[in-house]
Amino acid sequence: MFIIDKINVKTKDSGKEILKDFSLTIKPGEIHAIMGPNGVGKSTLSKVIMAHPDYIITSGTIKYKDQTINGLLTDEIARNGIYLLMQDPAIIEGVSNSECLRTALNERNDNNTNLYTFITKMKNELESLKLPSDIMHQSINKGLSGGERKKNEVLGLKILKPSFIILDELDSGLDVDSLKVVANNINKYLNENKNTSVLIITHYSRILDLIKPNYVHQMEDGKIIKTGDIDLAKEIEKIGYSRVNEIKESETNE
Ligand SMILES: Nc1ncnc2c1ncn2[C@@H]1O[C@H](COP(=O)(O)OP(=O)(O)O)[C@@H](O)[C@H]1O
Ligand SMILES: [Mg+2]
Repeated sequence: MFIIDKINVKTKDSGKEILKDFSLTIKPGEIHAIMGPNGVGKSTLSKVIMAHPDYIITSGTIKYKDQTINGLLTDEIARNGIYLLMQDPAIIEGVSNSECLRTALNERNDNNTNLYTFITKMKNELESLKLPSDIMHQSINKGLSGGERKKNEVLGLKILKPSFIILDELDSGLDVDSLKVVANNINKYLNENKNTSVLIITHYSRILDLIKPNYVHQMEDGKIIKTGDIDLAKEIEKIGYSRVNEIKESETNE
């Protein structure tokens, strides 16, 4: 179970309040989507879960598998099985993909990663993601297009086998065909690992046609203002965020 209980978050530098009494509970195996226009705090939420140093949680808790994870370091959170697929994956010069993933994997299984099994797995996964096999030995994300960087993040996911996945704007930078390849790979992973939970963060509903959520939450000004199913996403897509809010306001005024 993943539980965010009324967190308030501000930026470290300017003290700007971004998340306001934000709560969300995700059970094992559930897929939740958070939708909202630009600037409501979606990426901040994903970064705060991973303990990004730019943000401070002023109150509230984040729990995963009965353990409070706010206060832990990013690598400790990752070792607990939480994996963030970032909106803009960074380039890391001097560290190769295979070195990084093998080190991370060794952390998990007490240095028992068999090199041959690991390389074979990497090759197979690169193939299924339609990525060239030589990127295995190149610096992380160096010389890759936006779409290839996203695929590279999915490669990490398939190797490290997290139990909780956060997808921040998965479709940004991906063309239609690449998006399908990525979504198929994630769906295959979820089918093989039924207890995996997913948090999809998006401002478009099209990704939700490919990775189907059990719940859709609408986010506005740092908190969830409405929860529904895929129909809520369709409604938002059809009439826009502001119109959905107008209807909501007139309903509450009646
Ligand atoms: N480190 C930061 N310093 C200052 N402002 C920030 C920082 N991170 C986010 N913000 C601001 O907080 C708001 C929410 O940002 P973000 O979470 O990226 O929104 P979203 O992903 O929903 O588009 C935006 O107005 C953004 O400019
Ligand atoms: Mg964002």
